Amino acid sequence: MTVCAACGAENREAARFCDACGATLAEAPPVREQRKTVTVLFCDVTGSTALGEQLDPESLRRVLARYFETARDAVERHGGTVEKFIGDAVMAVFGVPVVHEDDALRGVRAAAEIRDALERLNTELERDFGTTLSIRIGVTTGEVVTGTVERLATGDAVNVAARLEQAAEPGEILLGGETVRLLRDAVGVEAVEPLTLRGKRAAVPAFRLVSVDTASPPRRLDAKIVGRERELRLLGDAWERVRTERSCHLFTVMGTAGVGKSRLVLELLGSLSEGRVVRGRCLPYGEGITYWPVVEVLKQLPDPESFSLDSRARGALDSVLGDEQATASTDEIAWAVRKLLEAAAASEPVVCVFDDVHWGEQTFLDLVEHVADLSRDAPILLLCMARPDLLDRRPGWAGGKLNATTVLLEPLSAQETDALIDQLLGGADVDEELRARIRERAEGNPLFVEEMLGMLRDSPNEQIDVPPTIQALLAARIDQLDPAERGVLERGSVEGRTFHVGAVQALAPDEAELPARLTALVRKELVRPDRARIAGDDAFRFRHLLIRDAAYDSLPKTTRAELHEQFAGWLEEHGTELVELDEILGYHLEQAYRYRAALGPLSTSDLRLGTRAGRRLAEAGHRALARNDTGAAVQMLERAVALPSGGPIDVQLHLALASALMGAGRPLDAVDVARRTAVAARDAGDRVGELAAGLEAANLASSVDPTVTAEELLARVAAARPELEAHADDAALAVAARAEMWAWNALAQYSRAADAAARLIAHARRAGDTRQETAGRTWLAVAECYGPTPVLDALRTLEAEPELDRVIPYRANVRATILAALGRFDEARALGQEEWRRFDELGHKLGRAILACNLGAIERLAGDWEAARASLQVGCDELDAMGEQGFLSTFVVYLGQALYELGDLDEAHACALKGRTIGAADDIITQMSWRQLQAKVLARRGEHDEAIRLAREAVSVGEPTDAVESYADAIRDLAEVLALAGRPAEAADEFRSALALYESKGNVVLSLRARQRLEALGAA
Ligand SMILES: Nc1ncnc2c1ncn2[C@@H]1O[C@H](COP(=O)(O)OP(=O)(O)OP(=O)(O)O)[C@@H](O)[C@H]1O
Ligand SMILES: [Mg+2]
Repeated sequence: MTVCAACGAENREAARFCDACGATLAEAPPVREQRKTVTVLFCDVTGSTALGEQLDPESLRRVLARYFETARDAVERHGGTVEKFIGDAVMAVFGVPVVHEDDALRGVRAAAEIRDALERLNTELERDFGTTLSIRIGVTTGEVVTGTVERLATGDAVNVAARLEQAAEPGEILLGGETVRLLRDAVGVEAVEPLTLRGKRAAVPAFRLVSVDTASPPRRLDAKIVGRERELRLLGDAWERVRTERSCHLFTVMGTAGVGKSRLVLELLGSLSEGRVVRGRCLPYGEGITYWPVVEVLKQLPDPESFSLDSRARGALDSVLGDEQATASTDEIAWAVRKLLEAAAASEPVVCVFDDVHWGEQTFLDLVEHVADLSRDAPILLLCMARPDLLDRRPGWAGGKLNATTVLLEPLSAQETDALIDQLLGGADVDEELRARIRERAEGNPLFVEEMLGMLRDSPNEQIDVPPTIQALLAARIDQLDPAERGVLERGSVEGRTFHVGAVQALAPDEAELPARLTALVRKELVRPDRARIAGDDAFRFRHLLIRDAAYDSLPKTTRAELHEQFAGWLEEHGTELVELDEILGYHLEQAYRYRAALGPLSTSDLRLGTRAGRRLAEAGHRALARNDTGAAVQMLERAVALPSGGPIDVQLHLALASALMGAGRPLDAVDVARRTAVAARDAGDRVGELAAGLEAANLASSVDPTVTAEELLARVAAARPELEAHADDAALAVAARAEMWAWNALAQYSRAADAAARLIAHARRAGDTRQETAGRTWLAVAECYGPTPVLDALRTLEAEPELDRVIPYRANVRATILAALGRFDEARALGQEEWRRFDELGHKLGRAILACNLGAIERLAGDWEAARASLQVGCDELDAMGEQGFLSTFVVYLGQALYELGDLDEAHACALKGRTIGAADDIITQMSWRQLQAKVLARRGEHDEAIRLAREAVSVGEPTDAVESYADAIRDLAEVLALAGRPAEAADEFRSALALYESKGNVVLSLRARQRLEALGAA
């Protein structure tokens, strides 16, 4: 017996073509393991022990044989496979040998049929043996492994089905949750007490079957149609021609499942103002399906009697309609159906609709073509809907006919999809991100959109997953492919949505006809040619990501692991030109490793595989971090550290992760990673690593924890340095220099910070760490900007190499700040905004927040206080949300200054207090500026003594620093406070000191402002 791979029908051993569907019968492919979602049915006789006592063993055997036969018949009629008889139990699997999209429905129908058939059997048993049987049934759906030698299906679903069966009352059918979810309206059910299963924590939901529809679960088809104008026009034109020319036209609407064929046709039918519409549908399986659609149509046409049809034709039609007396050949039947349609069309044009023609038997397809070819002088529109599989079975469908049109329905566009989502939501709100995800995943398939939204409605809090109905649809499509084509698809799926022919060949070395297979897959609308990313190779792309996933999901994990590893091998050889080679290789090696880890004990070669994966990901992560792409860096570095290192702990890798986390706006996680690394290094006896990680942890902590002071950082650096120098470990020394640099920066000792930055650069260069090197160069520029270096000198340095702005983070921002000091605000804003965008695009949250604050600082200089407030507010909120405090403590006071200038003293005061609370004791700029701000607020409120005291305190805090401009700011604010206290002479003195400092720094804007204040005081 040969099983057809396309439809699952059984054929004679010698058959070359399938009797049921006409597909070429391939040589029986070797059984291979596969993962699939199947529906499992368990049926058992209750009270069989009692029966055994009652009946003679021979009679018992015969009774049970009758029952088995009944069950087997029902199962096979619905395309299931009987697995085995365990005692009195029957186990059947729907989805073996091939998956159908309606396996769940088939399983439930078979269950209902077994129950019905048993009633009939019982009458016979009663008569023949004086006994009856009662049975109980359990049906559920789930993922299993098939194709193993031992049994048909292995997996949880099998146990659950058995358990459901045991829990059922005699005569009852219990369904599992997954089956009910798939069938929805097609079954009537009542929930029963959930079952507890050994070894399962959660109870398993169970439902009693009350009724089952014979039709497939209905589609809604009620949403207003979106798009499809062109197709409707073509259909309308064809109809027009049929009517005016009184001719027959065969119109085929072709398209993948759910793309909207039935909906389109419904739209046309709704718009017709005349004509008789008759419709039939092909069924996926079942007895007497050949003429099923024809019978439906015949029943909708007027009685043949009324047309004075030839008696031969009437006889043929009767035979189709089930009159056992009448017999007719297929040719006669086709001829008779044509005659009848022609007769009906004589009085009124006819639209004869056939849906799901891809399931049609060859004889039926012949009939349709016969009508199209031979009908004369009769306005008949033959309107067929089919999935592309039709062309597999009937490559020449409608070919060569002048009176035939075929349109392929393409997916909806993104806008159309959006319109459909809106419509289906009917005004209900949906999160923008969620909508985007649905739009993306559905890729223009309206059915997918509907199902995903439906799923969301049923369980609003769940992730948008692939709905089980869609999964079944796609899995069936792939499972029913010719095994060789399926193999190609599966191998392609390992590479991803787009795959290279060379890779598939490498993964399937025995496949001799790859090009032909790919052509077939293109014709089946599963893949399409795509641009190859590897020179000299060809590429294809899955039409839909979900198809790729379905193909991939059917592979056993063992095979996935092997294929990922083999693919990595192929890519190492052929993909050397790829920019993201490390990312891609890392991914595939990682997948191979993960599957092996999930499957069981890891061998040493598996561990080596994991290490290789980790190295690649680490490489890629370091590179992403170096270009400040912190999102990607975190993602890759986190995966890299999770893989076996193959040796001692890689401290620098962990510290890179910490750094990436910091940039990505997760400072607490960053500190945590650094701290754990220090501990792990210590446990591993890596003293240098322990010191470096400890320093980095303290450094990072200083930005989230005000109790970690700069003094402490400096002390730690001083303590660690001799040991690090003894080891001459430049990577660790760079970490130390960086901590030191931060500390001096906090202390507003910019010359010293610059020295530390220079040390950082030197160590980083020697360690080959470009990321640390650029960090050093950033801070060198910062130190020039805020330290004693005159503004123009600093600008000259920066402008000498403007291209470095793209390489060194924050450099453009420093330049913007300097330009603002010179009064060149437009240039400053443009530069600042550009860099903001750069960080934004990279997902560098910390950088983005800092840049927003700095744009506010630029507006401060420009005197646009409202703009300053707005930018600072945005930046501070972002810093606050990520738990950052080091930058926030300073910027929140700047925000307060803007509020102060805008006249909101209360809010300004609150900002000053916040800066005071979260600012580290030795974060000098914060310590100065909150005092300045509070002093001014107090002065406005008339509390002059306290105001002056605080303002003086701010000045003395700034005194030991070389932060020329900030120090000048403190003096200027003291002057303001004195002026408000009515002490103009003292105020003028202070303004003069501030002015001198501003001039030494070359800050044109603040110099001018100080001078104006002096003049105003003089005038007073
Ligand atoms: N253009 C459209 N506008 C609005 N809704 C649509 C559109 N196309 C399809 N739909 C909806 O999407 C669902 C699937 O469409 P339909 O049943 O027509 O697909 P199909 O191509 O006939 O699929 P199958 O091959 O499974 O029969 C239906 O509920 C239908 O109402
Ligand atoms: Mg349809």
